Amino acid sequence: MATELTAAQLRAYDGTDPSKPIYVSVRGKVYDVTSGRGFYGPGGAYAVFAGREASRALGKMSKDEADVSGDLSGLTDKELGVLADWETKFQAKYPVVARARRRLNSAVSAQPPQISRESTISSSLLRPSVSVNSVLPLAVLFSAVLACLWLPNNLNGMMCM
Ligand code: HEM
Repeated sequence: MATELTAAQLRAYDGTDPSKPIYVSVRGKVYDVTSGRGFYGPGGAYAVFAGREASRALGKMSKDEADVSGDLSGLTDKELGVLADWETKFQAKYPVVARARRRLNSAVSAQPPQISRESTISSSLLRPSVSVNSVLPLAVLFSAVLACLWLPNNLNGMMCM
């Protein structure tokens, strides 16, 4: 069994051939849902998901053909939460048999904005000028206090009166 499936390969497991298992992909993980043939087999309530990456449709609670994809762009936090619940259910109920090839899981195309946002945040956190500017005066103050406490009394009198 291949560990990665393309969209075209996944389509072969849509339940129309009764000798083959039925697969559904959720967030790039391909589940063998053959035990749910009543749901996903031909004429089943969720046959539209068979042999497909269904993440967007699951998040939106939609059975529209146009939503059956891995494109998560524009989904609300609530819809992403619904998708996460579905993923938990699939993980508990069905074995994972493969991964969907990244190009098929076009959820990937929804990620670059998030990644660039994250990298903007982390690069601003890591900017050295911020930490040097705030730490340097504190370090000077701290060493002055230490000097006053530890220098011999005669010097101490001169410096810290
Ligand atoms: C009036 C609307 C609906 C009703 C009454 C309904 C009812 C049900 C019921 C009774 C189950 C079986 C639960 C179980 O035994 O685990 C189920 C499962 C499911 N429903 Fe719906 N449903 C509706 C709409 C939808 C819609 C719009 C979607 C689109 C995402 C959806 C997706 C699913 C999926 C993926 C399963 C899981 C099947 C499995 O266990 O593999 N349902 N639904």
